[in-house]
Amino acid sequence: MSIIRNYLVLSAAIIFAAGIAYGAEKPSEYIGQGQCKVCHNKKTTGAQWAVWKEMKHAHAFDALKSDEAKEMAKELGLTKPPHEEPQCVKCHVTGYDLEKMTVPAKIKLADSVQCETCHGPGSAHKEDGRAVMFKKKTADEVDWMANLVEVEESICLKCHNEESPAWNPEQFTLEDGTKVGFDFKHAAKIIAHPDPTHEK
Ligand code: HEC
Ligand code: HEC
Ligand code: HEC
Ligand code: HEC
Repeated sequence: MSIIRNYLVLSAAIIFAAGIAYGAEKPSEYIGQGQCKVCHNKKTTGAQWAVWKEMKHAHAFDALKSDEAKEMAKELGLTKPPHEEPQCVKCHVTGYDLEKMTVPAKIKLADSVQCETCHGPGSAHKEDGRAVMFKKKTADEVDWMANLVEVEESICLKCHNEESPAWNPEQFTLEDGTKVGFDFKHAAKIIAHPDPTHEK
């Protein structure tokens, strides 16, 4: 009896797994900031790449090579140079995997905190962009958010928290005067890179 039941459960599992394999789309993968630059660096639509390149996020990996960084690491009793120390690198680059101690294949450490940190892995979105570029679709026909991540405060808080040795709990002042270490509204304004052709 139990053999038959196990057999049934097993075959159901195999059919289910095959259904996933046939039905599923390929998950989006990291492609790197250089790919985003190809389509997002026109002045008329906001030159998001150039704006990002001027921000501290774009240089966050290099910041780990400063004397200040070395001092911070020493104080925490870390022995490796900060730019080789997983406990520092994880928040200063894109997509760091603490278990494998590495970044995805198409990401360079020097890319620092780049586009896909906030917008999610971009390979599927790039295909959306190419469909428009090669006139297979119009921009209006594409659901642009289908293959991108909605940028929410929770994404920022993965790095902007008291685990950061540079954390200043009084960095931002809320409207009621309260001081906080991170304020999404205020911080998002500082790093803003809007497309001026999009309506608010
Ligand atoms: C082949 C061109 C192409 C590439 C490569 C590309 N994009 Fe886009 N992207 C577009 C187009 C076209 C739009 C739609 C613009 C519009 O709404 O007018 C867009 C829209 C977006 C939007 C706004 C979505 C919305 O409507 O709110 C974000 C965010 C974005 N891209 C991020 C990225 C990131 C990050 C990368 C790199 C990982 C990237 N894009 C790579 C073409 C591209
Ligand atoms: C939890 C994520 C996180 C970790 C872990 C982390 N950092 Fe950072 N680091 C940040 C953030 C976010 C900032 C921006 C300042 C802030 O709000 O804390 C920053 C800023 C810095 C700065 C620049 C400060 C300035 O004045 O511009 C240095 C240098 C730095 N970190 C070094 C390090 C070193 C060294 C380590 C490892 C010992 C480390 N960080 C670990 C998130 C992190
Ligand atoms: C630290 C997080 C962060 C990084 C890094 C980042 N963005 Fe954004 N991006 C945002 C936020 C927040 C918004 C505004 C809210 C939204 O549209 O989702 C935004 C909006 C956009 C938009 C839509 C603009 C509009 O007005 O419709 C585009 C396009 C875009 N980003 C592209 C990029 C590209 C390309 C890069 C890298 C060169 C990049 N972003 C890096 C957080 C980020
Ligand atoms: C992967 C980690 C990480 C994520 C996620 C992240 N940040 Fe940061 N952010 C940093 C680091 C590291 C620095 C400091 C870089 C330096 O000083 O060299 C920083 C600096 C900043 C600064 C100071 C920028 C400047 O140029 O003065 C602002 C503002 C900021 N982040 C806002 C945001 C917002 C808003 C989000 C979410 C939409 C976000 N960050 C997500 C790691 C991150």
